[in-house]
Amino acid sequence: MMKNSVSEIWDILCDVEDLQHGEYRRGRDQAPTPKRSRRDTGSAEARPLDSVTSIDALGDLIRRCKACQLGSLRKNAVPGEGAANPLVMVIGEGPGGGEDETGRPFVGRAGQYLDKWLAAIGLSRENEVFIGNVIKCRPPNNRDPEAEEMEACLPYLLKQIELLQPKSILCLGRFAGRKISGDEQASLSRMRGSLHSFKNIPVVVTYHPSAVLRNAELRRPVWEDLQLLKNLLADLG
Ligand code: URA
Repeated sequence: MMKNSVSEIWDILCDVEDLQHGEYRRGRDQAPTPKRSRRDTGSAEARPLDSVTSIDALGDLIRRCKACQLGSLRKNAVPGEGAANPLVMVIGEGPGGGEDETGRPFVGRAGQYLDKWLAAIGLSRENEVFIGNVIKCRPPNNRDPEAEEMEACLPYLLKQIELLQPKSILCLGRFAGRKISGDEQASLSRMRGSLHSFKNIPVVVTYHPSAVLRNAELRRPVWEDLQLLKNLLADLG
């Protein structure tokens, strides 16, 4: 693991000029999503997750999934990617346009900014990190995921955590924080800033990189949260 000083972490977080335009469009341009009948959507129980023993096999299952309406609207599902035994499992919200095109997580501006955050605490997505999302398929026009879409996808996220056994989890944004904390009403400001635990895995919750690109005031709390994670990783050895 590379070591960066506290001031270097701050500089890296602030180095965002080329990343600050667009991408996060939640709440705007929201098109209604065509509804599917209950019968069309399948169920978590119908998916044979118990018999899945590898992250690649789970990825194949996710790529074929039609458990919610997003399965018919996506170009590519985005199972997530990264280290097999990660120091950090990053959990974002869900794929956007670039991710839907490529089938890979965090490939746009938010992803480039996330890479800087990781570098700031001495990590790289190639080596020590697995990057996933709460939902694996893009909602139309990047709208917020609906509750039933997150419910349909949750078994995949839980299975990923079970298979990967990450040393720590970094939740980006309120949807990831709520799913992992189990508190569906929690605000991000309440979840961030302290350590949580999920099945004995330490969890840090912070703002989503897209939100920070839109609002520079969020840089400082993110900087604090990244230091929390950095110190946690140092304690873990
Ligand atoms: N935002 C997310 O939350 N996840 C991605 O994969 C990309 C952008």
